[in-house]
Amino acid sequence: MKLRTSFIAFLLLLIFNTNLTAQQDFEQQIDELLVKMTLEEKVGQMNQYNGFYDATGPAPEGGNAAMKYEHLKKGWVGSMLNVHGVDEVRKLQELVVKESRLGIPLIFGYDVIHGYKIQSPIPLAEAASWDLEAIQKSAAIAADEASAVGLNWTFAPMVDISRDARWGRVMEGGGEDPYLGSKIGVARVKGFQGDDLSANYTIAACAKHFAGYGFAQGGRDYNTVDIGTNTLFNVVLPPFKAAVEADVKTLMNGFNILNGIPVTGDGFLQRDILKGKWGFDGFVISDWGSIGEMEPHGHAKNLAHAGELAAKAGSDMDMESTAYVTHLAESVKAGKVDKKLIDDAVRRILRVKFELGLFDDPYRYCNPTREKERLFHEDHLAGVLDMAKKSIVLLKNENNLLPLKKDQKGIVVIGDLADDKNSPLGSWRLASDNNSAVSFLEGLDNYTKDYLFVQGPKIFDDKADFLHHVTIKDDKKGMQEAVEAAATAQVVVMVLGEHGFMSGEGRSRTQLDLPGLQPELLKAVYEVNKNIVLILMNGRPLALPWEDEHIPAIIETWQLGSQTGNAIAQVLFGDYNPGGKLPMSFPRSVGQMPLYYNRYSTGRPDDNQLVFWSHYGDEKNTALYPFGYGLSYTTFAYDNLQIDATDPKAVKVLATVTNTGNLAGEEVVQLYLNDPVASIVRPIKELKGFEKIALDAGASQTVNFTLTEKELGFYDHNYDWVVEGGTFNIMVGGSSVDGLTGSFEIE
Ligand code: NOJ
Repeated sequence: MKLRTSFIAFLLLLIFNTNLTAQQDFEQQIDELLVKMTLEEKVGQMNQYNGFYDATGPAPEGGNAAMKYEHLKKGWVGSMLNVHGVDEVRKLQELVVKESRLGIPLIFGYDVIHGYKIQSPIPLAEAASWDLEAIQKSAAIAADEASAVGLNWTFAPMVDISRDARWGRVMEGGGEDPYLGSKIGVARVKGFQGDDLSANYTIAACAKHFAGYGFAQGGRDYNTVDIGTNTLFNVVLPPFKAAVEADVKTLMNGFNILNGIPVTGDGFLQRDILKGKWGFDGFVISDWGSIGEMEPHGHAKNLAHAGELAAKAGSDMDMESTAYVTHLAESVKAGKVDKKLIDDAVRRILRVKFELGLFDDPYRYCNPTREKERLFHEDHLAGVLDMAKKSIVLLKNENNLLPLKKDQKGIVVIGDLADDKNSPLGSWRLASDNNSAVSFLEGLDNYTKDYLFVQGPKIFDDKADFLHHVTIKDDKKGMQEAVEAAATAQVVVMVLGEHGFMSGEGRSRTQLDLPGLQPELLKAVYEVNKNIVLILMNGRPLALPWEDEHIPAIIETWQLGSQTGNAIAQVLFGDYNPGGKLPMSFPRSVGQMPLYYNRYSTGRPDDNQLVFWSHYGDEKNTALYPFGYGLSYTTFAYDNLQIDATDPKAVKVLATVTNTGNLAGEEVVQLYLNDPVASIVRPIKELKGFEKIALDAGASQTVNFTLTEKELGFYDHNYDWVVEGGTFNIMVGGSSVDGLTGSFEIE
């Protein structure tokens, strides 16, 4: 026994030492390279260009493309984005490796946000699964495909916390909560990067956008962010810190100003916190042109000045603004930027290239056989289907209308999105093939052909794409036919929501309703037939008070990606029991924005029947569907809450969960904490633990949580972590509003 333990210890030491040696070896090789590199070549490593021509065609002549081509040959480019496909990548890599003086390989980045060809659900949907293993696997699938087409770096995960559903980019993140958001961010980093970054099926991840981007005022993308230290330290930064602790290789800053300073030029964030306090040793890339945007922000005089500010603040690589490649060497020579900062940035970039194995083999990710084999792989489709089912949230199910019986007769399906094969792919699916999702109807076909589909009015423009806004139509043609068909149905399945391109970058909304004629259509159908199953497809929380009051069954399916129809059909007919929970609060009205469960109490929290308490005169304060909420086809009961606070550094909390229904199901058991008296007030509750469990009908399980200093404390205004003794309240339950409650004291 003793022998075995020491053998394992020896092995661990060996592995640890091998890694250490490899790392030391990299540092030595970087030292040697830095000695050889000219200032221009160093600055070149800090320059990233967008793909500019068909790399497999003839060399470009004249203009921007020819300039970039020349820069590549000179070694003035460290990375390319939006170049993908083995042939394209190899061609540019060869150009640099063979023709530039030092042959330092490029790193190829791309927005692999929820898949490359095969699309997983949009990240917000995946977050609704609360299933970290599935989320990690989904990212690994994306990495496997992306690495097969020559890519070695994704600009994901987006770990921006957001509490404003108007902001279109909520689709890309993990929702409103920093605890859940951190766990999801870490799962995605691990999925992309795997255990061995140098393997040809893993890629470097990028936690973005550092920081505060999700707090754009009014939910309008790129808008001003002005938040206090409490929100910055306790809400915005934790997911980034968690990603750094999980060894994320890169971070991206952003377009926004934060408290008056463009984050791209913010040295407090990038140097003091990220590279200082957190010891991050990867590199920071700017967002697209965000260095140049410091000029219109009113922070930099011109592009050269912007480059100086960004380099000093710790933005290591310039995405496409050209500030570095055109001006930074001059700024260094003029003594405006310390050359040590340049060396530091280059070291960071080279380190990641070494870790990816690019110096061993610059073509590691350029294997045409892998490219053929790994794209659209069967196993990937299965993994993405699993993720899609887990992302679905059952919002309402009056009188157990769902699941439908497999031999259900008289189904009438209505809605523009029902046969849409494009919209369900969601936003940020750059490389996916248009119309490649399994539509809802195609999924339904696997169960029954005995249904009638009547589209109803056309709501969305079929030509919607990544670059343009979706046109919402207002032609009532088809309305009458749909209503007449609904009148004859035993059950009406309405597939309504937003188009996939209504969320994502630059796609903010002022309304959170069902766009266009959909509410009118739904109400008209309801007049003739109340037996409605509403299938929602949307990229953000919507405000659906009428729907909640009238429609008996509502399923939130977000945009589920390539396997959309198959996943929904399995839930509709009960082959999969939904267990998702909302990662963002669904409001009653857009006027409640920003709405989030982990709010602070006001000095006037209670309804005093008069007007002088914190509320709206025309709407409740609460969410329509709260954070953490989601139903199942079975039911769960919670009891036997036990708290043991004998060890204040490891408070134990136990609760028993029983499946009280007739079906097996999954439940996300959630623990919320409240510190009722603190030097800096704490939220009324905060998620501090969760576990997703599977229970057969009638079965029980005791779930254990341990609260350590990490869960009990918070950051003060100096960014110091403090745990203040006193009473703590906890709640354990199946959502942020219901659960067993208890409290404990620590000194
Ligand atoms: C701008 C987006 O904000 C960022 O998230 C993305 O990675 C870059 N464009 C590159 O496409």
